[in-house]
Amino acid sequence: MSKIRSVIRGVGSYLPEKVMTNDDLASFVDTSDEWIRKRTGISRRHIAAEGELTSDLGYHAAVRALGNAGIDASEVDLIIMATTTPDNTFPATATKLQSKLGLSGCAAFDIQAVCTGFIYALAQADNMLRLGQARTALVVGAEIYSRILDWEDRGTCVLFGDGAGAVVLRAEESNGAEHPRGVLSTTLGADGAYYDMLYVDGGPATTGTAGYVRMQGQDVFRQAVHRMSETVTKVLADQGLGLDDLDWLIPHQANLRIIEQVGRKLGIDRDRVVVTLQEHANTSAATIPLALTHGVERQLFKPGDVLGMTAMGGGFSWGAALIRW
Ligand code: ACO
Repeated sequence: MSKIRSVIRGVGSYLPEKVMTNDDLASFVDTSDEWIRKRTGISRRHIAAEGELTSDLGYHAAVRALGNAGIDASEVDLIIMATTTPDNTFPATATKLQSKLGLSGCAAFDIQAVCTGFIYALAQADNMLRLGQARTALVVGAEIYSRILDWEDRGTCVLFGDGAGAVVLRAEESNGAEHPRGVLSTTLGADGAYYDMLYVDGGPATTGTAGYVRMQGQDVFRQAVHRMSETVTKVLADQGLGLDDLDWLIPHQANLRIIEQVGRKLGIDRDRVVVTLQEHANTSAATIPLALTHGVERQLFKPGDVLGMTAMGGGFSWGAALIRW
Protein backbone atom coordinates (compact mmCIF):
# COMPACT_ATOMS: atom_id res chain seq x y z
CA MET A 1 0.00 0.00 0.00
CA SER A 2 1.35 3.42 -0.87
CA LYS A 3 1.78 5.86 1.97
CA ILE A 4 3.32 9.30 2.32
CA ARG A 5 6.57 9.41 4.32
CA SER A 6 8.71 12.41 5.28
CA VAL A 7 12.21 11.67 4.01
CA ILE A 8 15.34 13.61 5.00
CA ARG A 9 16.82 14.67 1.65
CA GLY A 10 19.55 16.99 2.90
CA VAL A 11 21.35 18.13 6.03
CA GLY A 12 23.55 21.09 6.85
CA SER A 13 25.07 22.87 9.80
CA TYR A 14 26.88 26.07 10.67
CA LEU A 15 29.08 27.16 13.56
CA PRO A 16 30.18 30.79 13.98
CA GLU A 17 33.82 31.52 13.24
CA LYS A 18 34.87 32.61 16.72
CA VAL A 19 35.95 29.73 18.97
CA MET A 20 36.07 30.00 22.76
CA THR A 21 38.09 27.18 24.36
CA ASN A 22 37.77 26.07 27.97
CA ASP A 23 41.07 27.82 28.68
CA ASP A 24 39.69 31.04 27.17
CA LEU A 25 36.73 30.74 29.56
CA ALA A 26 38.98 30.04 32.51
CA SER A 27 40.70 33.37 31.88
CA PHE A 28 37.60 35.24 33.10
CA VAL A 29 35.46 32.66 35.00
CA ASP A 30 36.50 30.58 38.04
CA THR A 31 36.74 27.27 36.18
CA SER A 32 39.30 25.07 34.40
CA ASP A 33 39.66 23.08 31.21
CA GLU A 34 40.08 19.94 33.32
CA TRP A 35 36.83 20.50 35.29
CA ILE A 36 34.77 21.22 32.18
CA ARG A 37 36.12 18.29 30.17
CA LYS A 38 35.80 15.84 33.06
CA ARG A 39 32.26 16.86 34.09
CA THR A 40 30.80 17.59 30.65
CA GLY A 41 33.05 16.37 27.81
CA ILE A 42 33.05 19.89 26.31
CA SER A 43 36.33 21.29 24.90
CA ARG A 44 35.20 24.44 23.07
CA ARG A 45 32.19 26.38 21.91
CA HIS A 46 31.55 28.84 19.06
CA ILE A 47 30.35 32.37 19.72
CA ALA A 48 28.34 34.45 17.23
CA ALA A 49 29.98 37.69 16.08
CA GLU A 50 28.57 41.03 17.09
CA GLY A 51 25.64 41.73 14.79
CA GLU A 52 25.31 38.08 13.75
CA LEU A 53 21.73 36.91 14.34
CA THR A 54 20.02 33.58 14.91
CA SER A 55 18.41 33.98 11.48
CA ASP A 56 21.93 34.32 9.97
CA LEU A 57 23.12 31.09 11.59
CA GLY A 58 19.92 29.36 10.46
CA TYR A 59 20.37 30.76 6.96
CA HIS A 60 23.88 29.30 6.54
CA ALA A 61 22.73 25.89 7.80
CA ALA A 62 19.63 25.99 5.57
CA VAL A 63 21.62 26.87 2.44
CA ARG A 64 24.00 23.97 3.13
CA ALA A 65 21.08 21.57 3.72
CA LEU A 66 19.42 22.63 0.45
CA GLY A 67 22.76 22.20 -1.36
CA ASN A 68 23.21 18.75 0.18
CA ALA A 69 19.67 17.82 -0.93
CA GLY A 70 20.18 19.24 -4.43
CA ILE A 71 16.88 21.06 -3.99
CA ASP A 72 16.33 24.70 -4.95
CA ALA A 73 15.08 27.03 -2.21
CA SER A 74 12.07 27.88 -4.40
CA GLU A 75 10.72 24.36 -3.78
CA VAL A 76 10.45 24.92 -0.01
CA ASP A 77 6.82 25.37 1.04
CA LEU A 78 7.19 25.13 4.82
CA ILE A 79 9.79 26.56 7.21
CA ILE A 80 9.87 25.63 10.88
CA MET A 81 12.56 27.14 13.05
CA ALA A 82 13.26 25.73 16.51
CA THR A 83 14.84 28.41 18.66
CA THR A 84 14.89 29.77 22.19
CA THR A 85 16.96 32.78 21.15
CA PRO A 86 14.91 34.47 18.39
CA ASP A 87 16.21 37.61 16.68
CA ASN A 88 13.26 39.55 18.12
CA THR A 89 10.31 38.77 20.37
CA PHE A 90 8.32 38.84 17.13
CA PRO A 91 8.02 38.15 14.23
CA ALA A 92 9.03 34.52 14.06
CA THR A 93 12.71 34.13 13.16
CA ALA A 94 11.51 31.62 10.53
CA THR A 95 10.00 34.52 8.59
CA LYS A 96 13.35 36.34 8.60
CA LEU A 97 15.01 33.16 7.36
CA GLN A 98 12.30 32.89 4.69
CA SER A 99 13.06 36.37 3.44
CA LYS A 100 16.85 35.79 3.53
CA LEU A 101 16.26 32.73 1.33
CA GLY A 102 14.36 34.95 -1.13
CA LEU A 103 11.07 33.16 -0.43
CA SER A 104 7.59 34.46 0.28
CA GLY A 105 4.14 33.00 0.75
CA CYS A 106 4.87 29.66 2.38
CA ALA A 107 4.09 28.99 6.06
CA ALA A 108 6.99 29.96 8.33
CA PHE A 109 6.89 29.83 12.11
CA ASP A 110 9.00 29.21 15.22
CA ILE A 111 8.73 26.44 17.77
CA GLN A 112 9.85 27.05 21.34
CA ALA A 113 10.61 23.81 23.16
CA VAL A 114 14.14 24.74 24.28
CA CYS A 115 16.59 21.83 23.82
CA THR A 116 13.77 19.59 22.54
CA GLY A 117 12.89 22.19 19.90
CA PHE A 118 14.32 20.31 16.92
CA ILE A 119 12.35 17.14 17.75
CA TYR A 120 9.16 19.21 18.18
CA ALA A 121 9.80 20.96 14.85
CA LEU A 122 10.57 17.71 13.05
CA ALA A 123 7.40 16.09 14.41
CA GLN A 124 5.31 19.07 13.33
CA ALA A 125 6.83 19.10 9.83
CA ASP A 126 6.36 15.33 9.51
CA ASN A 127 2.68 15.63 10.43
CA MET A 128 2.09 18.47 7.96
CA LEU A 129 3.89 16.64 5.14
CA ARG A 130 1.96 13.43 5.71
CA LEU A 131 -1.32 15.40 5.73
CA GLY A 132 -0.43 16.93 2.37
CA GLN A 133 -0.19 20.48 3.78
CA ALA A 134 3.32 20.90 2.34
CA ARG A 135 5.75 18.94 0.17
CA THR A 136 9.22 20.26 1.01
CA ALA A 137 9.96 21.46 4.53
CA LEU A 138 13.00 23.18 5.92
CA VAL A 139 13.39 22.29 9.60
CA VAL A 140 16.03 24.37 11.34
CA GLY A 141 17.44 24.50 14.86
CA ALA A 142 19.41 27.70 15.49
CA GLU A 143 20.57 29.34 18.70
CA ILE A 144 22.71 32.16 20.07
CA TYR A 145 22.88 31.13 23.73
CA SER A 146 25.90 33.35 24.34
CA ARG A 147 23.43 36.25 24.59
CA ILE A 148 21.32 34.68 27.36
CA LEU A 149 24.16 33.44 29.55
CA ASP A 150 25.24 34.97 32.83
CA TRP A 151 29.00 34.96 32.16
CA GLU A 152 29.62 35.17 35.92
CA ASP A 153 27.68 31.96 36.65
CA ARG A 154 30.19 29.16 36.14
CA GLY A 155 27.43 26.58 36.74
CA THR A 156 25.79 27.49 33.40
CA CYS A 157 28.05 29.58 31.16
CA VAL A 158 30.56 26.77 30.55
CA LEU A 159 27.84 24.49 29.12
CA PHE A 160 26.46 26.33 26.10
CA GLY A 161 27.47 27.63 22.67
CA ASP A 162 26.03 29.07 19.44
CA GLY A 163 25.24 27.16 16.25
CA ALA A 164 22.66 25.93 13.77
CA GLY A 165 21.63 22.81 11.91
CA ALA A 166 18.98 22.13 9.29
CA VAL A 167 17.30 19.34 7.40
CA VAL A 168 15.29 19.33 4.18
CA LEU A 169 12.33 17.03 4.60
CA ARG A 170 10.33 15.89 1.59
CA ALA A 171 6.97 14.11 1.33
CA GLU A 172 7.51 10.97 -0.74
CA GLU A 173 5.33 8.00 -1.69
CA SER A 174 6.58 4.80 -0.08
CA ASN A 175 5.26 2.86 -3.11
CA GLY A 176 4.59 -0.25 -1.08
CA ALA A 177 8.24 -0.67 0.03
CA GLU A 178 8.57 -3.17 2.86
CA HIS A 179 10.89 -0.92 4.85
CA PRO A 180 10.31 2.60 3.50
CA ARG A 181 12.74 5.40 4.29
CA GLY A 182 11.79 8.43 6.34
CA VAL A 183 10.37 9.40 9.68
CA LEU A 184 8.82 6.29 11.26
CA SER A 185 7.45 7.77 14.47
CA THR A 186 7.80 10.67 16.88
CA THR A 187 6.85 11.24 20.50
CA LEU A 188 6.61 14.52 22.41
CA GLY A 189 6.01 15.38 26.06
CA ALA A 190 6.29 18.17 28.61
CA ASP A 191 5.69 18.90 32.29
CA GLY A 192 5.56 22.55 33.38
CA ALA A 193 5.88 21.57 37.04
CA TYR A 194 9.65 21.46 36.46
CA TYR A 195 9.83 25.17 35.51
CA ASP A 196 12.16 26.10 38.40
CA MET A 197 14.81 23.59 37.43
CA LEU A 198 15.67 25.16 34.08
CA TYR A 199 14.43 28.54 32.91
CA VAL A 200 15.44 32.02 31.82
CA ASP A 201 14.85 34.75 34.40
CA GLY A 202 13.42 37.28 31.95
CA GLY A 203 10.96 37.72 29.11
CA PRO A 204 8.69 40.28 27.42
CA ALA A 205 5.84 39.84 29.92
CA THR A 206 7.94 39.57 33.08
CA THR A 207 11.05 41.75 33.12
CA GLY A 208 10.99 43.18 29.62
CA THR A 209 14.52 41.81 29.14
CA ALA A 210 15.75 38.59 27.55
CA GLY A 211 17.09 37.28 30.90
CA TYR A 212 19.70 34.65 31.71
CA VAL A 213 19.68 30.85 31.92
CA ARG A 214 19.13 29.50 35.46
CA MET A 215 19.44 25.82 36.25
CA GLN A 216 19.57 23.15 38.92
CA GLY A 217 22.13 21.00 37.16
CA GLN A 218 21.85 17.71 38.98
CA ASP A 219 18.04 17.52 38.73
CA VAL A 220 18.24 18.35 35.03
CA PHE A 221 20.89 15.66 34.61
CA ARG A 222 18.73 12.92 36.20
CA GLN A 223 15.61 13.88 34.25
CA ALA A 224 17.56 14.05 30.99
CA VAL A 225 18.86 10.49 31.36
CA HIS A 226 15.38 9.22 32.26
CA ARG A 227 13.39 11.04 29.56
CA MET A 228 15.87 10.56 26.73
CA SER A 229 16.12 6.80 27.22
CA GLU A 230 12.36 6.41 27.83
CA THR A 231 11.38 8.26 24.63
CA VAL A 232 13.73 6.24 22.41
CA THR A 233 12.26 3.02 23.81
CA LYS A 234 8.78 4.41 23.10
CA VAL A 235 9.34 5.38 19.44
CA LEU A 236 10.85 1.93 18.80
CA ALA A 237 7.90 0.18 20.50
CA ASP A 238 5.45 2.29 18.47
CA GLN A 239 6.90 0.60 15.38
CA GLY A 240 6.97 -2.88 16.93
CA LEU A 241 10.76 -2.60 17.21
CA GLY A 242 13.13 -3.23 20.12
CA LEU A 243 16.45 -1.81 21.28
CA ASP A 244 18.30 -4.37 19.12
CA ASP A 245 16.81 -2.70 16.04
CA LEU A 246 18.39 0.66 16.83
CA ASP A 247 21.47 1.22 14.63
CA TRP A 248 22.39 4.79 15.67
CA LEU A 249 21.60 7.07 18.57
CA ILE A 250 21.73 10.82 17.86
CA PRO A 251 21.11 12.35 21.27
CA HIS A 252 20.82 15.97 22.30
CA GLN A 253 24.38 17.10 23.07
CA ALA A 254 24.31 18.59 26.57
CA ASN A 255 26.78 16.56 28.61
CA LEU A 256 28.87 13.52 27.66
CA ARG A 257 27.97 11.84 30.94
CA ILE A 258 24.23 12.18 30.13
CA ILE A 259 24.84 10.71 26.67
CA GLU A 260 26.90 7.81 28.08
CA GLN A 261 24.25 6.97 30.67
CA VAL A 262 21.47 7.06 28.05
CA GLY A 263 23.59 4.83 25.79
CA ARG A 264 24.17 2.36 28.64
CA LYS A 265 20.45 2.27 29.53
CA LEU A 266 19.60 1.55 25.89
CA GLY A 267 22.42 -1.00 25.58
CA ILE A 268 23.84 0.60 22.44
CA ASP A 269 27.57 0.45 21.67
CA ARG A 270 29.49 3.69 22.20
CA ASP A 271 30.61 3.75 18.58
CA ARG A 272 26.95 3.79 17.49
CA VAL A 273 26.28 7.01 19.39
CA VAL A 274 27.00 10.27 17.55
CA VAL A 275 28.86 12.68 19.84
CA THR A 276 29.86 16.18 18.72
CA LEU A 277 29.44 18.27 21.87
CA GLN A 278 33.19 18.51 22.49
CA GLU A 279 33.33 20.82 19.45
CA HIS A 280 30.33 23.08 20.08
CA ALA A 281 28.95 22.50 23.63
CA ASN A 282 25.18 22.59 24.15
CA THR A 283 23.62 24.55 21.28
CA SER A 284 20.10 23.66 22.48
CA ALA A 285 17.73 23.15 19.50
CA ALA A 286 20.70 22.98 17.12
CA THR A 287 22.56 20.02 18.62
CA ILE A 288 20.66 17.19 16.93
CA PRO A 289 20.88 18.55 13.36
CA LEU A 290 24.56 19.42 14.05
CA ALA A 291 25.23 15.82 15.12
CA LEU A 292 23.16 14.42 12.24
CA THR A 293 25.12 16.49 9.72
CA HIS A 294 28.38 15.30 11.28
CA GLY A 295 27.22 11.69 10.84
CA VAL A 296 26.18 12.25 7.22
CA GLU A 297 29.46 13.99 6.35
CA ARG A 298 31.38 11.01 7.71
CA GLN A 299 29.07 8.56 5.92
CA LEU A 300 28.24 6.81 9.18
CA PHE A 301 24.69 5.85 8.19
CA LYS A 302 23.90 3.30 5.51
CA PRO A 303 20.53 2.97 3.75
CA GLY A 304 18.02 1.16 5.93
CA ASP A 305 19.73 2.05 9.23
CA VAL A 306 17.35 2.95 12.07
CA LEU A 307 18.29 6.26 13.72
CA GLY A 308 16.91 7.35 17.08
CA MET A 309 17.04 11.05 17.98
CA THR A 310 16.13 12.18 21.46
CA ALA A 311 16.23 15.31 23.61
CA MET A 312 15.17 16.80 26.93
CA GLY A 313 15.10 20.47 27.80
CA GLY A 314 13.54 23.33 29.72
CA GLY A 315 9.86 23.08 30.59
CA PHE A 316 10.67 20.27 31.06
CA SER A 317 10.03 19.19 27.52
CA TRP A 318 11.18 15.94 25.92
CA GLY A 319 10.78 13.93 22.75
CA ALA A 320 12.23 11.46 20.27
CA ALA A 321 12.07 10.67 16.57
CA LEU A 322 12.76 7.38 14.82
CA ILE A 323 14.02 7.54 11.25
CA ARG A 324 14.86 4.90 8.67
CA TRP A 325 17.85 6.23 6.69
N1 ACO B 1 34.09 24.99 37.11
C1 ACO B 1 34.61 24.54 38.25
N2 ACO B 1 33.88 24.12 39.28
C2 ACO B 1 32.54 24.15 39.13
C3 ACO B 1 31.92 24.61 37.96
C4 ACO B 1 32.74 25.06 36.91
N3 ACO B 1 32.27 25.49 35.76
N4 ACO B 1 30.57 24.53 38.11
C5 ACO B 1 30.36 24.02 39.34
N5 ACO B 1 31.54 23.81 39.96
C6 ACO B 1 31.78 23.26 41.29
C7 ACO B 1 30.60 23.42 42.21
O1 ACO B 1 30.61 24.68 42.82
C8 ACO B 1 30.86 22.30 43.19
O2 ACO B 1 31.82 22.71 44.11
P1 ACO B 1 31.76 22.25 45.65
O3 ACO B 1 31.88 20.75 45.61
O4 ACO B 1 32.92 22.95 46.26
O5 ACO B 1 30.42 22.72 46.14
C9 ACO B 1 31.47 21.20 42.35
O6 ACO B 1 31.96 21.85 41.15
C10 ACO B 1 30.49 20.12 41.94
O7 ACO B 1 29.32 20.74 41.43
P2 ACO B 1 28.09 19.90 40.96
O8 ACO B 1 27.00 20.83 40.55
O9 ACO B 1 27.79 18.86 41.98
O10 ACO B 1 28.71 19.19 39.69
P3 ACO B 1 28.07 18.11 38.75
O11 ACO B 1 28.95 16.93 38.69
O12 ACO B 1 26.62 17.89 39.05
O13 ACO B 1 28.18 18.81 37.35
C11 ACO B 1 26.87 19.98 35.72
C12 ACO B 1 27.48 20.03 37.08
C13 ACO B 1 27.95 19.82 34.69
C14 ACO B 1 26.12 21.29 35.48
C15 ACO B 1 25.90 18.77 35.65
O14 ACO B 1 25.03 18.77 36.75
C16 ACO B 1 25.09 18.79 34.38
O15 ACO B 1 25.62 18.72 33.29
N6 ACO B 1 23.77 18.81 34.49
C17 ACO B 1 22.92 18.84 33.33
C18 ACO B 1 22.73 20.25 32.95
C19 ACO B 1 22.50 20.47 31.51
O16 ACO B 1 22.95 19.74 30.66
N7 ACO B 1 21.82 21.54 31.21
C20 ACO B 1 21.64 21.96 29.88
C21 ACO B 1 20.24 22.29 29.57
S1 ACO B 1 19.16 20.90 29.73
C22 ACO B 1 19.63 19.82 28.66
O17 ACO B 1 20.18 20.21 27.68
C23 ACO B 1 19.38 18.38 28.93
